[in-house]
Amino acid sequence: MAPGEGRVDRGQRASIKCQEPCVIWFTGLSGAGKSTLAEALERSLLAAGRHTYLLDGDCLRQGLNRDLGFSEAARQENIRRAGEVAALMLDAGLIVIAAFISPFRTDRDAVRARVPGRFIEVFVDTPLAVCEQRDPKGLYRRARAGLIPDFTGIDSPFEAPQAAELRIDTSQCAVEAAVLQILDYLRSHHAL
Ligand code: ADX
Repeated sequence: MAPGEGRVDRGQRASIKCQEPCVIWFTGLSGAGKSTLAEALERSLLAAGRHTYLLDGDCLRQGLNRDLGFSEAARQENIRRAGEVAALMLDAGLIVIAAFISPFRTDRDAVRARVPGRFIEVFVDTPLAVCEQRDPKGLYRRARAGLIPDFTGIDSPFEAPQAAELRIDTSQCAVEAAVLQILDYLRSHHAL
């Protein structure tokens, strides 16, 4: 093969962006603060000149995953697709930030296995009572009234991570402090 031919690989795509691609995966209950943290983290990374992309459950469910509901099988497929998209974006050299309830351990672990050594799981461990009190979309109230079946934390399970890289309780920690904690982790693990 002549010089300069052949496939461009992930290392080349990443090195031209001067960064180490990774997937920062936020998991936790609805209302725990995943999207807020993910958005703040992306703003910080962008300000530092990093190339990022944010995958958010609410957004993907309006497009790529609009055929999926909230049964166990549908959530599994939701996370499988999100994981595949994250893996493609990682290959493109991006720092991928993902915010999904992702309530099942095996589904999160499958994404972890899909991007070996590049998966940083952030457990947004805000207590259910706090999420329910915040209730930003009024969904807990409707779920308690029996209007939304299979609602996570009410009548559908959330399996807490056992070995997340980071744990953040947004009822105890301000958004700015949480973002600094994540950035510190990325720096000390050579992911920035
Ligand atoms: S996941 O469980 O499949 O990972 P995902 O993160 O994509 O969920 O979407 C969660 C969002 O969908 C919630 O923030 C909420 O706005 C909305 N939602 C609607 N119905 C439900 C439900 N039954 N359980 C949880 N979230 C729901």
